[in-house]
Amino acid sequence: MKAPQRLRSLLEEGFIDAVVRQLMSGKEAMVYVVRCGDETRCAKVYKEATQRSFRQAVDYTENRKVKNTRQARAMAKGTRFGREAQEAAWQSAEVDALHRLAAAGVRVPKPFNFHDGVLLMELVVDADGAAAPRLNDVTLTAEAARAHHATLIGEVVRMLCAGVIHGDLSEFNILLAADGPVIIDLPQAVDAAGNNHAARMLVRDVDNLRRFFGRAAPSLLETDYGKEIWALYETGGLTADVPLTGRFEQDERVVDLEAVMREIDDARLEDEARRMRLQALA
Ligand SMILES: Nc1ncnc2c1ncn2[C@@H]1O[C@H](COP(=O)(O)OP(=O)(O)OP(=O)(O)O)[C@@H](O)[C@H]1O
Ligand SMILES: [Mg+2]
Repeated sequence: MKAPQRLRSLLEEGFIDAVVRQLMSGKEAMVYVVRCGDETRCAKVYKEATQRSFRQAVDYTENRKVKNTRQARAMAKGTRFGREAQEAAWQSAEVDALHRLAAAGVRVPKPFNFHDGVLLMELVVDADGAAAPRLNDVTLTAEAARAHHATLIGEVVRMLCAGVIHGDLSEFNILLAADGPVIIDLPQAVDAAGNNHAARMLVRDVDNLRRFFGRAAPSLLETDYGKEIWALYETGGLTADVPLTGRFEQDERVVDLEAVMREIDDARLEDEARRMRLQALA
């Protein structure tokens, strides 16, 4: 096909050799199949800020790392420099997240390049080598639903161990590749440690998985992995291979008041003894 304007500079600079076809036009980006040497890859062309909208809500941009305080001030004030900085931060957030997650062993498309607002990455394919379908476009047996759900809970845990929450995880942003589910679409990914909405977003992501896979495997509807995962993360107990139960119970054990009083008494007695020793020395 004739190369669209936004891909011309990549052609001229030799990052890609040909544009094969348009794959999708989503809400925030246009996705193309491209050739690079003898490899087929995927090019995600971000739309301009004015053509996007909903995901730049404060939830997501809160605490997004910016390079310096001038940038941060400009972004806060909404000057043109600020808007440009915000735009660049938004677009590069996805490639940053892909690198971070690939390094943490999460199955995401392998990123190759980010140039002029275009992300070049691995084309995720099915068993026939065709672009992989979204989970939403496949029919699953109960058994397959349970298996993919378990895989994806593991991926969510691995992501959180790397400090990342997807923030928009659903059957529309997961592809079913020949080797299993692949998580895509990460420009809104959230830094788990620095965002007040992190817990809510993690739980929402996990609840989306439960709702979707629960249609094919209703037993999953009883599970509550999201809160369990978050509780472990918050207490420093989350590791990639931590066993999960899928159940979450608020810790409602009655505080052992007597034991607490004993502790306080002990501390008071110790303090008194210390003071008496000091007096004896004086
Ligand atoms: N690496 C990839 N390999 C194969 N297909 C891909 C890849 N990345 C994206 N796609 C296809 O392009 C579609 C849109 O990609 P993506 O979700 O990243 O963009 P988006 O603009 O946020 O889209 P939407 O608004 O539909 O969520 C995906 O649903 C998928 O079908
Ligand atoms: Mg998407």
